[in-house]
Amino acid sequence: MRIAVVGTGYVGLVSGACFAEFGIEVCCVDKDETKIRRLRGGEIPIYEPGLDVLVARNMAADRLSFTSDLAVAMEGADVVLIAVGTPSRPGDGGADLTYVYAAAAEIARTMSRYTVIVTKSTVPVGTGRQIAALVRDVNPRAEFDVASNPEFLREGSAIGDFMQPDRVVIGADSDRARAVMETLYQPLIRAGTPFVRTGIETAELTKYSANAFLAFKITFINEVADLCERVGADVQDVAAGMGLDGRIGRPFLNAGPGFGGSCFPKDTEALVRTGRQHDSPVRLIETVVDVNRARKRQMAGRILQSCGPDAAGKRIAVLGITFKPDTNDMREAASLEIIPLLQEAGVTVHAYDPAGMEEGRHLLPGVVWHEDAYAPLAEADCVTILTEWNEFRALDLGRVRALMRRPVMVDLRNVYDPAAMAAAGFHYCSVGRRD
Ligand code: UGA
Repeated sequence: MRIAVVGTGYVGLVSGACFAEFGIEVCCVDKDETKIRRLRGGEIPIYEPGLDVLVARNMAADRLSFTSDLAVAMEGADVVLIAVGTPSRPGDGGADLTYVYAAAAEIARTMSRYTVIVTKSTVPVGTGRQIAALVRDVNPRAEFDVASNPEFLREGSAIGDFMQPDRVVIGADSDRARAVMETLYQPLIRAGTPFVRTGIETAELTKYSANAFLAFKITFINEVADLCERVGADVQDVAAGMGLDGRIGRPFLNAGPGFGGSCFPKDTEALVRTGRQHDSPVRLIETVVDVNRARKRQMAGRILQSCGPDAAGKRIAVLGITFKPDTNDMREAASLEIIPLLQEAGVTVHAYDPAGMEEGRHLLPGVVWHEDAYAPLAEADCVTILTEWNEFRALDLGRVRALMRRPVMVDLRNVYDPAAMAAAGFHYCSVGRRD
């Protein structure tokens, strides 16, 4: 079996490398020639644990190749995965499908045999049908089927998520396409991974519903955290007590500064738009979008408050700027909202992040960057943890205290224990707990 993967972003590159690991011949294609040149030289454009080794191993075995020419990638391909970006359209929050349709049209022009055209990118309901219509239009003789095979991988644990998924969802409306997709996923089928075989629209909506539900779970616990603070309860214990109910589950009940990343913000907005378009509003998710947006401002206020009555002229140390740990991805990171609000209040921000600073330097002007977790703390009036990187979990608290002007920590990821922090002499403020 041979497949082409269009787009070498997160989803495309990880899927391509993982399918190659299954023994399938994979050719990844991207318009960005510099990226392709780098990939051929073994340079991985994203920070994803284990991906470099996987790519190198499969390139060496001649199962994984890279090209900027779609026609080359399509030669002899049984399946083509569309894994290009679907960013939020400025203005209306809908998913911008320009790249998806451009890829589909080019695929139509280069197809020479029966091919299953698969959307791996998150695309709004109805996109699969539109791709089919477009391909028929561009190449009326093309022999093809369209399928939807949404990807559920998380940045930072993408390879594990791909290799041992909770489930695989395949939306197709022909037996032929379904059979091809099952050949593609043979190793997972043999390993007993649950498969959801369904129609195209259902698969498309499943992906949005899953992401929106997880975003809802986070937003719910964030609001419960606010309430905990008012009533003197502890959100960690509430989450533990709720999460042990098998119908609820503990994951994604960690209160924090609000969700970010390249998926949840964009996908919740797109689902809201789809609901409105079909006169079937998803009101819960409309609220999730609003509450999550307001939360980042609220968290900036909390940090400023901890600096005392007048924050202007104070120095705040920020630990972690990426939208979550184990990634260098800055998209929709809470830091991008919070840090400028701190600066607007006249604060000087000193920061450190293990992987995000290269991008951070462009995105967050005025921040003073440091090369380790302790350097930004010198003479700081407050330190705030925005991302729960492991290296912030075991800071030498004595050293932290000695470096700071005032021992104040605003821990927006509940990394530390309030009692231990009080014992270490800190004025400690976290999320949804008695501090
Ligand atoms: C998310 C989903 O988890 C994946 O299943 C999905 O495939 C992916 O989107 C996608 O659509 O491509 P990802 O964006 O990598 O994956 O990140 P998550 O680990 O889900 O975290 C998203 C945000 O929620 C982060 O800002 C994180 O800090 C926040 N979060 C997560 C919380 O605030 N609390 C939690 O309990 C969990």
